[in-house]
Formats: sequence, structure tokens, C-alpha cells
Amino acid sequence: MSESRGQQNYEEALGRFRDHGQERVFRFWDDLGGLQRQQLLDQASAVDLAALERAHDANSGCTGARPPKLETVPVVRLPAHGGDALAADRAFERGSQALADGRVAVLVVAGGQATRLGFDQPKGAYPVGPISERTLFEQQAQKIRGLRRRYERPLPWYIMTSDATDAATRALFAENDSFGLPAEDVIFFQQGMVQSLDFEGRMILERPDRIFENPNGHGGSLTALLSSGSLDDMERRGIDTVFYYQVDNPLIRIADPTYLGFHLEAEADMSCKVVQKRDPMEKVGVVARADGKIGVIEYTEIDDEHRFATDDKGELVFWAGSVAIHIFSTAFIRRVAENADELLPYHASAKRIPTIDEGGQPIQPTEPNGHKLERFVFDALAAARSVCIVEGDRNLEYSPIKNAEGTDSPTSARRDLIAVYRSWLDAAGIELPKNGAAIEIDHSRVDGPDEARQLGIQRCAEAGDTIRVQAGESA
Ligand code: UTP
Repeated sequence: MSESRGQQNYEEALGRFRDHGQERVFRFWDDLGGLQRQQLLDQASAVDLAALERAHDANSGCTGARPPKLETVPVVRLPAHGGDALAADRAFERGSQALADGRVAVLVVAGGQATRLGFDQPKGAYPVGPISERTLFEQQAQKIRGLRRRYERPLPWYIMTSDATDAATRALFAENDSFGLPAEDVIFFQQGMVQSLDFEGRMILERPDRIFENPNGHGGSLTALLSSGSLDDMERRGIDTVFYYQVDNPLIRIADPTYLGFHLEAEADMSCKVVQKRDPMEKVGVVARADGKIGVIEYTEIDDEHRFATDDKGELVFWAGSVAIHIFSTAFIRRVAENADELLPYHASAKRIPTIDEGGQPIQPTEPNGHKLERFVFDALAAARSVCIVEGDRNLEYSPIKNAEGTDSPTSARRDLIAVYRSWLDAAGIELPKNGAAIEIDHSRVDGPDEARQLGIQRCAEAGDTIRVQAGESA
């Protein structure tokens, strides 16, 4: 590009940024080389200044906001908790039919940065297998292979990555031959990035030529499905129903037919799976109506009156913890994505954001110095004409890897996964390994008690590679 054209682009960008009080982004301009200037201009051209201003305004006035008035929402209960077992059987048939008809796609959000876990690769590359150390992605691929075999349909798998995870995720799948899945049925798409803001609402430089950005939250999956063309791809394949989950839950029941069936019977735009909160202080959001609108109320937002409320049996009134397992219709995703500015607001959370000082030297702050902005997928609930909320069994379905140690860690997730395997073996009448033994089941062959039973065996040793057992310390 000619120098005068470059200067003109700079002046245009500077003017645009100045109109929004963001001209400090260019404060090192005179020190930058040609390539650095171009990079900064390229980055600046993609910034949605008006959206950032709205995000700052919306998030700066909220500290003294009145907590919302909450009401409970109807939940399809598990048969063990009073739910209708026949209705669950009907839902299973309906969901199975949708899978057999090829109407369903699977969507995993895997663009997060795993900061709490402190893992330097994508979380999906975490070695979760209790014996083989197979990764979360490999385990999920096994489940999808099992579903493809069972329903004789491709069940395309859409994997959302971000700048932080894209290259490493694609490389992992390439090295492992897509974990046994046909490459055309594993579709990667990348979520957007959004600039972080300091507490005054100004963008933050991470280098003299680079504005700090973070992945735009799991809610970015809905907009990225549209902008990447993946939503069109789904519709071309005859898909109208999308099963959404997070990459970090090794207990996930991908495309659970019963859940799909309830969603379809309710003709819901969007569905939510919930589990019983362990106690009022547990750090999960609850599904409820807030000031009349259905949504997920985060554990930081619920006030004590609602948090501790119990019914006449002493049970928590707001017990329905959201575990981020959703189902969407493709038409609803399109509507939300097309109206994202209105329907998916940015939420701010205070973080330590790497930056530079006035001399351009790097600083690692020890205290939060700004807000990361993120869109939350569950904000779409408020726009749904019909929502279906279905209870799941936490012990069998949800044990995420969030932290390096303690609750929701690799250790707790492996322990819970082994407990699920034991329950399958037990239900199938297969002799249980000693307590403390590690167990690993190949989900492409056995993905529940029924398939364990169909093996027709009495001991794990008869299952070859399908069921592996390794004696533990206490075995
Ligand atoms: P979390 O909010 O738990 O984030 O994301 P995380 O990246 O796994 O971990 P922390 O918060 O940095 O410690 C829940 C799910 O949403 C995905 C994550 O990959 C995970 O599957 N996610 C989150 C995205 O795909 N993109 C985002 O921008 C944020």
C-alpha cells in the first residue's frame, strides 16, 4: 500500500476511534514500523466501537442494581423424582427417531482459555481417560461413533474453536485421523474475539501494535455458526435440531435421545438441562424467571432471599442448576444470531489483563485492571418463544473439569466417570472390579448399561479392549 493511502487509512481510523474516546489505541503510532502499523490498522478496522460503548455503559451502572424478582419454571422431572416414566419412554422414542432421520447435529464449544485449570493446550486435549489417558476430544469422538453406528446416520460434529485453541485443535484432530470419524463430518469453526476494556471503558494495548482481545464467550457460538456458514451447512444437510454442550464434561450424554424427544415434543426453540443444586452455595446458575423473563441467574447474581428459599418439605425452591447442555432449533439460532446486538448483551468480568506501560514495556498486573467481555449462550433463553427444561441425573451426566484441584477437577471428573462405568457394569450384571480399580470403557462400543448387557459377558476381562480395568492402590 502506498504511504499516502496508509496515512489516509490511519487518519480515518483515528477519527473513528476519537469519536468514541478510544484514540489512545494509537498512542505509539509514531514508533511503529510499517508492518506493525498495518497490523494495528487491520485489527482496528474490525472493532465494533458502538458495541463496546454499549457494553461499557450497560456494565458500569449495574453495581447497585436491584436483584431480580425470581419465579420458578416448570421442569420435566426425572422418573426417580416423580417424573412420568411413560412420557420419558415416549420422548426416548421421539428423540431416537430424530437421530435416525438425520435431523440432529452436535455442537461443542471449545474456544475457552482454561485459565482456572491452567492447561496450556485446548481443554479438549486434556487426557481424561482413567487408563489410556485418552483426551476429552477422543472420548467424545468415541461417543459420536457409537451414535453413528446405532442410528446409521452421520451425526455431524461442529467444533467451535477460538484464536486461542483453533490451530492446536485442528492439529490434534489431523494427527489422530479425526479420531476415527470421517473428516467431512467434523466441522471446525471459529468464534469471534472482543476487546477488553479498562474500568473507564478504554481499550487496552497488550503491545504497542496490538489491542488486547479475548474470545467473545460461549454465546459467540450462535453468531459464529451464522457468520462461518456452518448454520447454512447444517440446513443443507437437513438438520433442524442442534445439541449443544461444553467440551469439559466427560460425563456428557451427547445427543441424549430422551432430552431431544422432550425438546421436540414441546416444539421448543431452546431447551435446558438442569440438575439439583447440591446446596444453596453451590456455584452454579439456576434456571428461573427473572422479572418475568426466563433465564439463567448466575450464582453471583442471586440474592440470599432466593438462594436459601425452601418449600414446605425443606427442599430448595431454586434447585434447578443449569449445566450448559442445550438444544436449539436451527431457525432459532438464526433469529438470535441475526439480532445478537439486542439479544446477546456483553457481560463484563473484572480480570488481570496483560498490558504495557507508557514506555511500551509489558506489565503483568497483580490486581484486576479491566473487564473481559463475554456473551452468554443462555441469554438466548429470553428470546425463545418456547423453552423446555429437563432434569438430568448429575451423577450420571455432569462432572466438569474446571479447576486444577478439588471440586470440578480432573481427579473428581475421573472418579465420577469410573462411578458411571461401575453403574453400567452393575446394571448389566457384570462382575464389578474391586473398589479403587480404574475402569475405562470404549464409548464407541458400549455407551450405557444396555450395550454393556448386550456384550453378554460376566467379567470385564472377557470384553477385550472394550472394557479395561487396572487395579488401583486400594484394589
Ligand atoms: P468456561 O467459562 O468454564 O471457561 O467455559 P474455560 O475456558 O473452560 O475456563 P476458564 O474460565 O478460563 O477457567 C465453559 C465452556 O465454554 C467454552 C469453553 O471452552 C468451555 O467448553 N467457551 C468459553 C468457549 O468456547 N468460548 C468462550 O469464549 C468461553
